[in-house]
Amino acid sequence: MTTENFLSDAVSEHSSSGTVCWESPSNIALVKYWGKRGDQLPANPSLSFSLNASRTRTQIRFEPAKSGGFEFRFDGALKPDFHPKLEQFFVRIKPYIPFLDTSFLFIDSSNTFPHSTGIASSASAMSALALGLTDIERSMYPERFTDDFFFQKASFLARLGSGSAARSVYGGYTSWGKLNNRAKYSDLFASPIAPVHQNFQHIQDSILIVSKAVKKVSSTAGHALMQGHPFAQARFKQAQENHIRLQEILQKGNWDAFTDLVETEALSLHAMMMTGTPSYFLMSPESILILDKIREFRKTNQISCCFTLDAGPNVHFLYPDSAKSSVLTWIDKQLKPALSNLEIIHDSIGSGSVKIS
Ligand code: DP6
Repeated sequence: MTTENFLSDAVSEHSSSGTVCWESPSNIALVKYWGKRGDQLPANPSLSFSLNASRTRTQIRFEPAKSGGFEFRFDGALKPDFHPKLEQFFVRIKPYIPFLDTSFLFIDSSNTFPHSTGIASSASAMSALALGLTDIERSMYPERFTDDFFFQKASFLARLGSGSAARSVYGGYTSWGKLNNRAKYSDLFASPIAPVHQNFQHIQDSILIVSKAVKKVSSTAGHALMQGHPFAQARFKQAQENHIRLQEILQKGNWDAFTDLVETEALSLHAMMMTGTPSYFLMSPESILILDKIREFRKTNQISCCFTLDAGPNVHFLYPDSAKSSVLTWIDKQLKPALSNLEIIHDSIGSGSVKIS
């Protein structure tokens, strides 16, 4: 598939109106997307799983614009820095959405998690919005859409809003970005990963929130700093290799190999931030304390579990369903007393986006 597959030569003569509503999850990357080029194309492939509880619900009302040109209004509990992203998103997707030119969109969006928790909402928000817009297009031109193409197009559009959002249109484990020697994966949109061993089918994610502050350096600025980074080529190669290895691990069900790889990925991401120019760090002393404690817990109790981090100080604590009661007891008895301001969202792998009727 190429970009042309997603273009539309339709003239926007449609004057229909209506409402669509989609809910889409946030996701957590295991192999990290870090660095991009061109029009939101990733420098390396990434692999994530979609969450269950952390979701955005977006309703779009559409009607012919009175002005004759594109207009939108956005009502949503999203951070102010989302607004410029939204403007840019519409500029980027215009060639691919025929009805946009003459439409007025009223967008109403809400998160199931408080937006002040420091959890990235742009992946779920852009994914829910892209699904809604693709659904409107499908209602106007049903003959263009198979089920597969519907999700591919939604993922393609979501990517133009935020790279990681491309992966959020699907549930379970998802991959985005070309893999050397594997034609199946694309830089343009994400695809689901299967089969996955039952050991990983119910993975849990307790999100340990140590800070709700706005990030010192945005992900978008962080991606840009990979251009000319002295370790960029080695990092992109590492991500390719880790992606291939992780797919094997997910198929075989090997938790020990999983913990090694996932922690290395998280630390490599932060190492890139610390070794670029200018350099910066997003982990806090509390993050490091938690990483240390998770490793200690794993060793002492011989329980498979590990940490990962996004571009921020909050820690995602990953473990199998079977370890849930031990982990929750440990969090209550050991972790909470050591960190007085800790907030936690207990989440797990989820089955993906849904249309709300
Ligand atoms: C560290 O998708 O937020 O979470 O494409 O500029 O919107 P933009 O960046 P974004 O970057 C996410 C980076 C990451 C890793 C990941 O999710 O793969």
